[in-house]
Amino acid sequence: MSWVSFPDGFEWGAATAAYQIEGGALEDGKGLSIWDVFCRQPGRIVTGENADVACDHYHRYRDDVALMAELGLQTYRLSLSWPRILPRGRGTPNEAGLDFYDRLIDALLERQIRPCVTLYHWDLPQSLQDLGGWALRDTAGWFAEYAKLVFERLGDRVSRWITHNEPIVTAMMGHRVGVLAPGIRDLGITARVVHHLHLSHGLAVMALRATGRGQIGITNANTSYEPADGGEESLQAAELARDFDTRLFHGPVFGRGYPASVVRYYESKNAPFPVEDGDLDVISEPTDFLGVNLYSRSRIEADPARGVGYRAAEPTLPLTDMGYKAAPHALGDFVTWVSEEYERPVIYVTENGVCDNTGPVDGVVEDTARRELLRGFLVGLARAVEIGADVRGYYVWSLLDNFEWALGTSRRFGIIYTDFETQKRIPKVSAEFYSEVIRRNAVESK
Ligand code: FCB
Repeated sequence: MSWVSFPDGFEWGAATAAYQIEGGALEDGKGLSIWDVFCRQPGRIVTGENADVACDHYHRYRDDVALMAELGLQTYRLSLSWPRILPRGRGTPNEAGLDFYDRLIDALLERQIRPCVTLYHWDLPQSLQDLGGWALRDTAGWFAEYAKLVFERLGDRVSRWITHNEPIVTAMMGHRVGVLAPGIRDLGITARVVHHLHLSHGLAVMALRATGRGQIGITNANTSYEPADGGEESLQAAELARDFDTRLFHGPVFGRGYPASVVRYYESKNAPFPVEDGDLDVISEPTDFLGVNLYSRSRIEADPARGVGYRAAEPTLPLTDMGYKAAPHALGDFVTWVSEEYERPVIYVTENGVCDNTGPVDGVVEDTARRELLRGFLVGLARAVEIGADVRGYYVWSLLDNFEWALGTSRRFGIIYTDFETQKRIPKVSAEFYSEVIRRNAVESK
């Protein structure tokens, strides 16, 4: 047994998202989000639930911050609910909503926990969806106005901002596959959404720069792509998968524009990205860091019969309770790849975690599958740092079991167990493990 260390000053945290934990969905003047509406549409959520209450964090945030402090968290990634702050998406702010975030941030700072705030983790105000949502170019401008409002209100205490969480998921799962809100299936709309998300990111970065303080980046969803075998066809197929999933969302931000293969595909389907003069400059406004979310890997092989030219090969690893491949090496592999591809940006791992539905037995939650997979991810991450990636921090997904979108409460990612009936919290065995990692700034490699 030996311990693998992280650099001095490495920051350890946990992540959540407003809709998944807050509850208080209809309280104190909050407007409806697309998720409030989506959950009420029959058949959208596998369990038939909604997140009107979720983890009731809106009322229990003080206790939750106390739990964070007990774990030893140094930083906490939360997201703001846009419709809690601007019930109709724009116009007059809701003071009670802003007050909630004021109090939450103050509670974190009292415990020396640095807030990292995501502006958009999927809960668009329904009023803006009614006008066209992300398919409408104006939404990018409204996002920038919302961003400016919160930078002014919270920027004296928040120094780390994230524009979007996983724009690929908003675009593809929300507008192409339609399994997440707003539940649309249309490639032309998807292309518009992709571009307007990018544009809104660039405009928000510019808005933060205008305030003269704070650091900002974007968080993308990633999979570590591996060719299914050593053949040339699989190598090329894996590159295509990176174009469609990774470079589509990193390229414009890093000044490289949209990948040619992806542009060709969308144009061939009469679904072009609606790029106007100057947009790519706005989108590539320099950022301070890249947020990396990663849960798994995928083996890729060629499939000429599919328009995109590739497909995922059969898994060769066991699956987690989420159906993700249990691939501990994937985090280090991806971080190394993205660091080399984009010339060594500062990276925060803004989400990484494991779905393990183990529940309490005699008050103890022995989530050893989560613990061991987390250990593997962290060992790989430490090695990626050793060989050159500039990773400054790590946020485990998630602090608490929460409302897992269209899967409701049927999937548990927390290092703290949530009893959704009583709202009791129980730190799991993985929480003990994580606390020790934080204390030692190192992970034991077995
Ligand atoms: C990510 C999301 C997060 C959570 C985890 C499991 O894609 O950003 O909200 O759903 O997956």
